[in-house]
Amino acid sequence: MNQTIHLIYFSPTGATRKTVTAIAQGLGTGKVLHHDLTRVREGIDLTLDEGIAVIGFPVYAGRVPELFLQRIERLQAAGMPVVIAAVYGNRAFEDALLEMADVCRAKGFSVSAAGAFIGEHSYATDSHPVALGRPDRDDLGRAVEFGTLASRAAADPSRREPQIPGAFPYKERPPLGGAAPDTDEGLCTLCGACAEICPTFVIEVGDAVRTNAAGCIKCCACTRVCPPGARTMNHPSVAERRQMLVDSCSRRKEPDFFL
Ligand SMILES: Cc1cc2nc3c(=O)[nH]c(=O)nc-3n(C[C@H](O)[C@H](O)[C@H](O)COP(=O)(O)O)c2cc1C
Repeated sequence: MNQTIHLIYFSPTGATRKTVTAIAQGLGTGKVLHHDLTRVREGIDLTLDEGIAVIGFPVYAGRVPELFLQRIERLQAAGMPVVIAAVYGNRAFEDALLEMADVCRAKGFSVSAAGAFIGEHSYATDSHPVALGRPDRDDLGRAVEFGTLASRAAADPSRREPQIPGAFPYKERPPLGGAAPDTDEGLCTLCGACAEICPTFVIEVGDAVRTNAAGCIKCCACTRVCPPGARTMNHPSVAERRQMLVDSCSRRKEPDFFL
């Protein structure tokens, strides 16, 4: 279908961006507008009344990241269809899709479809692989297919909104802040790539790298982008979680569609 496609997303390590871009391919041939809210100081301030929106985000602790909810607080829609995509690290997506469907309805969207997709886990490393390299070719193919199905659902006014799994009250969010990646000063070249990618602007690079751990969301974008590999997430709480993920979440999961 030929219509404007609004991609609205948060994606610190890129899996969500790849997934929503593939969904857009399946949705049709219209103009694709990217509203990338990963690294913005102000949230989006927009009322959509034409085309179709895709809202994509990584699952954090079975929920929608709070920061993304803040950044879409002033997004509204006048009865527009929306397609929701949650990207999770091969553990579970729990209440995240339901939460976003509730948020979207309250904003004036009609929910046409929701999908849960898999992306490399933010805490994954080569020695502790969890969904490494995902979304891969198969995942992106499924995302295109999902976009096509969602486009058909959105065009059919007789369809009911999909049943979306999840529970209310949603899973409680664990407290954030206090844990952040470390910098190995022997390896660091002070290039500033970590500060440039951080979605919460908590890294400062001068004669050393300083991180305000209180504002870190543990997304690990800085560890992925660091050219000499000087940034690593070694906090004991994350190291423990990483081992649990390897032990319990190594079996490949596949995308789920709710249409
Ligand atoms: C703080 C935090 C919490 C996470 N919680 C979950 C979770 O509950 N379930 C899961 O499967 N993956 C979880 N993940 C992994 C991300 O959902 C996954 O890595 C996703 O692909 C990241 O998307 P992005 O590349 O677009 O940033 C979590 C990651 C972080 C940083």
